[in-house]
Amino acid sequence: NVTKEFTQGLPKSELHLHIEGTLEPDLKLKLAQRNQIDIGQTTIAEVQKTYQYDDLASFLEVYYPAMNVLQKECDFYDLAMAYFRRAAQNNVRHVEVFFDPQAHTSRGVAFSTVISGLHRAVVDARALNVDATLIMCFLRDFSKESARQTLAQALPYKDWLVGIGLDSDEHNNPPLKFARQFEDAAAAGLHLTTHCDIDQKDSLEHIRQALEIMGVERLDHGTNIVEDPDLVDFVAQRGIGLTSCPLSNSFVSPEMKGKEVLQLLEKKAPVSIHSDDPAYFGGYISDNYYALADKFNLSRQQVIQLARNSFTTAWISPEKRDLYL
Ligand code: HPA
Ligand code: ZN
Repeated sequence: NVTKEFTQGLPKSELHLHIEGTLEPDLKLKLAQRNQIDIGQTTIAEVQKTYQYDDLASFLEVYYPAMNVLQKECDFYDLAMAYFRRAAQNNVRHVEVFFDPQAHTSRGVAFSTVISGLHRAVVDARALNVDATLIMCFLRDFSKESARQTLAQALPYKDWLVGIGLDSDEHNNPPLKFARQFEDAAAAGLHLTTHCDIDQKDSLEHIRQALEIMGVERLDHGTNIVEDPDLVDFVAQRGIGLTSCPLSNSFVSPEMKGKEVLQLLEKKAPVSIHSDDPAYFGGYISDNYYALADKFNLSRQQVIQLARNSFTTAWISPEKRDLYL
C-alpha cells in the first residue's frame, strides 16, 4: 500500500503552487527583521496562531498582509529558493510556480523587483535538479484595467513566463471578466489556466466559461466539474488538467474532494495532486499525495496515475515529457 516514503520518492510535477503561499513562519520573521517591518508577531507560535481560516475569503485575509515582508529582489529570491529546496526534497522534477505581481505592485514594490528575484531563483533551481518555470496570475478581485497594466508590465519578460493564471477572491469575479487579457496573453504565446475554487456558488458556470469560451488549458481545483458529465468528457478528451490540492481543500471540506478526484480518475480526466499554499495548509506535495491516499485508501497504481497526469498536463516539450514518463 501507499506509504509516506512512496509518495515522497515518486517523481512529481508541481502545477499548483503559489510562491507567496510557501512563506514559512521562520522566513517571514527573518524578512520582517531584515526589512524592519512590524508584522505584529515575533515568534513562530505567534505567527501560527494567526493561521485561522475556513473559507477562501478568510484565508486571503491572513495571506495578503503577510506579504508585506517581501520588499527587495533578494526577498523574492530567498522565498523561491527556500521552496525549490523543499521541492527537491519532495522529488519534484518540474514545477510551474504561480506568483501574484499585483499583491506586490499594489504595495509599491516594482514589477521588475518581483520577477527578477523569482527568475534568478528559477535559474539556480537547475543546480537542485528542479526544472522550474513561472505562471503569472492576475488577482481577479482587482480591475480589468489593473490586469491590463500588469500584462503590459509582464510582456517584456515573457520569455521568463510559461503561462497566465487567475486567482484570489472568486466571488463575483468570473473568468470572463478577464477574457480580453487572456486573449492577449495567448496571442503572446503564453499558456492559460484559471482557478475555479471548490467553495464557490457559481463554480460550474465559471468552469464552463473558462473551458468553452476562454480556451483554458488547465483548471486549478476545478473538481466541481463532476457535477456536469459532459464537461468531464470534454476535459478527458482534450487532456485538460485539473490540479486538486487535498490539504487546502481540507480547510473547507473534510472529504478534501477525494471522491471527485476518484471519479475523475475513473473517467480518465487528467486530475493531479498539488500543494496550493503549503506554508498555510500544513504540508508540501508529498504530504498532499499521502493525505489523499491515506483517507481514500488509494492503490499505488492510482497514485502513480495521479503523478503521471501531472506530467502529461505540464507545459513542457514532448521530449521532456518522454523523459519523465
Ligand atoms: N484560490 C484563490 N486564490 C488563491 C489561492 C487559491 O487556492 N491560493 C492563493 N491564492
Ligand atoms: Zn491556488
